[in-house]
This record gives sequence, structure tokens and C-alpha cells, in this order.
Amino acid sequence: MLEARNLTKRYDGANAPALDRLNLTVPDGEVFCLLGPNGAGKTTTVNLFLNFIQPTAGQALVCGIDAAVDPSAARARLAYIPEQVMLYGALSGLENLQYFTEISGAEAPRESLLSLLAAAGLPKDAAQRSVRGYSKGMRQKVGVAIALARRAQALVLDEPTSGLDPLAANEFAALIERLRKEGMAVLMVTHDLFLAKQCGTKIGIMAQGRLASVFGADDVDHLGLERAYLDLFASAAA
Ligand SMILES: Nc1ncnc2c1ncn2[C@@H]1O[C@H](COP(=O)(O)OP(=O)(O)OP(=O)(O)O)[C@@H](O)[C@H]1O
Ligand SMILES: [Mg+2]
Repeated sequence: MLEARNLTKRYDGANAPALDRLNLTVPDGEVFCLLGPNGAGKTTTVNLFLNFIQPTAGQALVCGIDAAVDPSAARARLAYIPEQVMLYGALSGLENLQYFTEISGAEAPRESLLSLLAAAGLPKDAAQRSVRGYSKGMRQKVGVAIALARRAQALVLDEPTSGLDPLAANEFAALIERLRKEGMAVLMVTHDLFLAKQCGTKIGIMAQGRLASVFGADDVDHLGLERAYLDLFASAAA
């Protein structure tokens, strides 16, 4: 479970908080998709759950553990997939997975890692090729395999499909769906309304550091979501 309680972040020197008393809960087996314009506070939210930055006020809880109070216990339960998964180009997908799994302290037998790469959708012949020659979609799949290997209970993603072609984005959505069914709590930042509708059980739209609207994914169709998004920012600009 992921939970933000009055989570607030004011960067040094800023007039307005980047994140202003955010409250949200992502129970196990749910995918909360966070939409919103550039600068709305989405990455700030993700970074607070990872304790990459400290909150000004409030709490980011990972399975009930305050990320700012016990960062290593919180991180042990949390996997992270950024827009650009950082991998060692000279190593193969399998070696990268092995390395990142070992440094996280998880068990990493070779056969199980190969099956995780297959489960993440990486073509079999690619697993032992150097990552330097991978496409962006293939790198994201190694990122998913790393998240799977860590057996984390929660997952945060920051624009994981940006730059992926529609087929790769669709495959990625299917992977997220599988993780959800396995009971993970997933918080995914995206600019892709279609992906949010496809993957999300809940969809939130953030504006100026606040959650402006939240929808159940079944309560809104793609067009309705797009209209709500545009209405929100058209009225904000007026
Ligand atoms: N390290 C920082 N120092 C100062 N201000 C920052 C820092 N990081 C972000 N901000 C500011 O905080 C606000 C929220 O930024 P954030 O990166 O969370 O937005 P975002 O919703 O992820 O946007 P995008 O869609 O462009 O990724 C912005 O006004 C941004 O300029
Ligand atoms: Mg961002």
C-alpha cells in the first residue's frame, strides 16, 4: 500500500509549494495513475515516496512505513521505474538484472532471472546481448524485471512509457496489469490519458501541487477523461 498524508513539499526559495497537502491511498492490487501538466508536482510526489527528497510536511508511507523516517525499510518494499531506466551498456540485460538484484539484497539465481526477463517480455535472444544495442522498450522491460526480482510490494513509475511506440506501450500496460493482479500497489505518473484509462483502477489529475480530480477508471471513458482534463486547465487559465 502507498499512502500520502497531507504530503507537502516546498523547494528552497519557491513561493508556492510544489506539492500542497496531497492525500491519496493506493491499496494493494490497485493502479493509481497520476496525470497533470508539466510542473504540477507529479515527479515531486514520486521522489517523496522514494525519499530522494524530504517532505516539508506530511508523510509518504510505503506499506505503512514513513519513507522519511525509515528510508531503507520503505525502499526495500518499493520498486521504481523511471522514464529512462539506467543500465550498464557494456553488460547484458541478464547481467544488469543480476547486478541490480544482488545490490538490493534479493536472491538472484540465474535461471529465475532469465524467466523474469521472459516474463517482462524481453525477447529470449536479447537477454545475453549487451544493453548498448537495446531499444528503449527493451530497456524498460529490464526495468520491469528488476522490479519483479526485488519482490517489492509497491511500485512507482514516472512516465515509464514516454517515447515507447504504441505496441511497446501496450505491452507495458499488460505487464502493469499483471503486477496489479499479483497484488502490487502501483502509482504511475503519465501524460498518456489512454494509458491511464487502460492501466488505472483510479485516475487522478494533479494541478499546482494538488489533486484536482480523482476518477474511478470504470466511471469515465477516454473521451470523458480528456474532457475533464481540458476543462480543468481551460478553467484554471480563465
Ligand atoms: N529540485 C527542485 N528545486 C526547485 N524546484 C523544483 C525542483 N524540482 C521541481 N521543482 C519545481 O516543483 C514544481 C513541480 O515539479 P515536478 O517535477 O514535480 O512536476 P511534474 O508534475 O513532474 O512535471 P513534468 O510533467 O514536467 O514532469 C515545478 O514548479 C518545478 O519547477
Ligand atoms: Mg515529472
